[in-house]
Amino acid sequence: MTRVIVVASGKGGVGKTTIAANLAVALSLFGKKVAVVDADIVMANLEIIMGLKNPPVALIDVLKGRLEVEDVIYEGPEGVKIIPAGITLDGFNEENMETLKTLLKEIPAYIEILVIDAPAGRDATMVMDRGQEVIIVTVPQVSSVSDALKMKILAERMGAEVTGAVINMARGRKYELTAEEIENTLDTSVIAVLPDDEAVKEALAYEMLYVLKYPEARVTRETLSLAANLIGVTYNPEGRGFLHRLRRFFTH
Ligand SMILES: Nc1ncnc2c1ncn2[C@@H]1O[C@H](COP(=O)(O)OP(=O)(O)OP(=O)(O)O)[C@@H](O)[C@H]1O
Ligand SMILES: [Mg+2]
Repeated sequence: MTRVIVVASGKGGVGKTTIAANLAVALSLFGKKVAVVDADIVMANLEIIMGLKNPPVALIDVLKGRLEVEDVIYEGPEGVKIIPAGITLDGFNEENMETLKTLLKEIPAYIEILVIDAPAGRDATMVMDRGQEVIIVTVPQVSSVSDALKMKILAERMGAEVTGAVINMARGRKYELTAEEIENTLDTSVIAVLPDDEAVKEALAYEMLYVLKYPEARVTRETLSLAANLIGVTYNPEGRGFLHRLRRFFTH
């Protein structure tokens, strides 16, 4: 069965889409067959950061019953499959939210890990289900963490398993909450701390993912380390050229 990892947050704009996309590619670099789905039907932007230009059909066509899931799977970087949302202003309603959960179960079995880029806040519960793992993204500020706690509670209510929290855009400033404080508030472990890194925005400007464009960046190392952790493999950055060797290792 496909392992499902939902990337969620309480507050918007904390980096879910960025993390979902780069994590998917990182998992793929470790040899996993990965798909990433944009479940943010209203504010879809995963396809943009994955470099997919104007996909003619998308998840919305499956929700409307016009196509099957297989028809809307696109090829992305490093063999990662992308399932774009397709923009709609209608968004979710009771009816299509149940459909969405059902069709997420129809992901082809060759996909080992499905990463879901969830919409911010309450709408995320529309993709959350039993048997899924949820990663809660937060920035190290009180308001973001208190909304993260609400999301964690909602995720558990939906029967999903909260794997832990990812602190994003950390700058190491005194006024930021520490990992320990965040762990205590959320009552879950912090499984990664991703720095606020220019590499993320620079990669965006090149329409590339930072894990591929900036293999030496700290944010890349931390993302690879998170991916390795999730699949239980050992990752030693080993300095320069690690990513290159990793890629060679997995592509012959
Ligand atoms: N670690 C980081 N360092 C620097 N910039 C970052 C980092 N992570 C994300 N960003 C930037 O922050 C902005 C918001 O990121 P993103 O769109 O991934 O958030 P989101 O949680 O998906 O937002 P939404 O709730 O609107 O879907 C983007 O401009 C992104 O490039
Ligand atoms: Mg997003």
